[in-house]
Amino acid sequence: MSGVRYSTRALLSGMTALRGMSRMQVRTACHNCSCGKRGLSLAAVARQQAAVSEPQIAASSVMQAVAGKEYLKVRFGDGSSAKVPYVWLRDNCQCSECFSQEALGRKLIITDLDLDTYPTEVQESDSGLKVTWNDGHCSQFQGQWLHDRAFTTASRDHHRNRYAFKREPWGPNHKLHKFDYNDLKKDDSVLLNWLKTMEVYGSAMIKNAPEKDLAGPEMIEHIAYVKRSHYGPHSPVINRPNTNNVAFTNAKLGMHNDLPQYEHMPGIIFIHCLKQHEGTGGESVATDGLYGAELLRKNHPKAFNILASTDIYFWDKGHSNYDWEMEDFHKISKFPVITVNNNNEVIRVAVNHAIRDSHMDIPPESVKNFYWAFKLFNEVLYDNSLNFKMDSGDIMTLDNVRCLHGREGYEAWSERHIESSYLDWDEARCRRRRLQEKLHKE
Ligand code: OGA
Ligand code: ZN
Ligand code: ZN
Repeated sequence: MSGVRYSTRALLSGMTALRGMSRMQVRTACHNCSCGKRGLSLAAVARQQAAVSEPQIAASSVMQAVAGKEYLKVRFGDGSSAKVPYVWLRDNCQCSECFSQEALGRKLIITDLDLDTYPTEVQESDSGLKVTWNDGHCSQFQGQWLHDRAFTTASRDHHRNRYAFKREPWGPNHKLHKFDYNDLKKDDSVLLNWLKTMEVYGSAMIKNAPEKDLAGPEMIEHIAYVKRSHYGPHSPVINRPNTNNVAFTNAKLGMHNDLPQYEHMPGIIFIHCLKQHEGTGGESVATDGLYGAELLRKNHPKAFNILASTDIYFWDKGHSNYDWEMEDFHKISKFPVITVNNNNEVIRVAVNHAIRDSHMDIPPESVKNFYWAFKLFNEVLYDNSLNFKMDSGDIMTLDNVRCLHGREGYEAWSERHIESSYLDWDEARCRRRRLQEKLHKE
């Protein structure tokens, strides 16, 4: 980088302008806007306003913008300051050449982005920031827009929460949050609470669902879309003759999540109890896999590491029982029991004994250690579970990539009837964001 280049950098601020200090600027023709012919500068406006009254300063007003080597140092009206990388600022130019305000999407493609771009002129404008780049391109940024994205701890925290709420792990003393089926349908603020509860705790109980097969899918359609699988949009969980899944028998089901045979497992499961088994049998168990995984990480780090680093297969092969199911299916997926992300956070727990494949893609010497770790995890999950019996009319909703559930076996002749259906997290979070906007609860 040449010395000449730095000498062209501007150190500009409304304050310094107000004090009448001269600006270091390189006048360049601005190709894409008429900023050369601009009206009053912020400083001029401020001077005019000062003569009349004290100007009101918005929290997101750009008070000062100081050009550095790779960053613009910006100070906002609320006193916060930010270090804004030039390459990011240029990439996010909001002009109509670079960004479609209609589609809310970037038109600029990265091929055309110069990594070493730098501003030749920077000005606080009435409402934000105006930047002229070394190639003559001109960008304008609203103060609020910049404030919301300026790489500050506050802006990053805020958007991380908009992306997904922080999860709170729960143990055996947790009480499932209760919601009323009809309230959820008719009151958006109740729905928003359920959506938030699902993000934070990954579990809730919906009471008073009508006794019809499609009550679960209808609620899901009220929220967004049903996530289908090869079992169709919903599954009667009854003791089926010629069944295509162990869940559709009267057998006990160990703690599991549904459909890990899908690489993209359904996000939220709706387990609707239309008719409960009378007498002993059919009781539920539910646990927070996140809580269990964190306990395992703390108390048995070796087991945690084995489960987080060993890919296992899940599979499902069979034929339809109903005409809405896929006629023939053969799914195979492969991932670890515990998936962690780049920040070492547990983002998925996958347990399902019926669906876990007998094929293993690991050396035979590693097999017993895997089983050791898996059994230990299973113990931790059961030690920290909730045990209860669902009432007819209950829909248990669980984050299916986080929480696990199971049931006791029941008599073969039972009229017990559960219906399961699914909603994906993308759709649930989308609805939560839309409701937050609508109800101004962000
Ligand atoms: C299932 C299941 C729960 C129940 O079908 O996968 O977990 O209580 N059913 O029958
Ligand atoms: Zn642009
Ligand atoms: Zn299940």
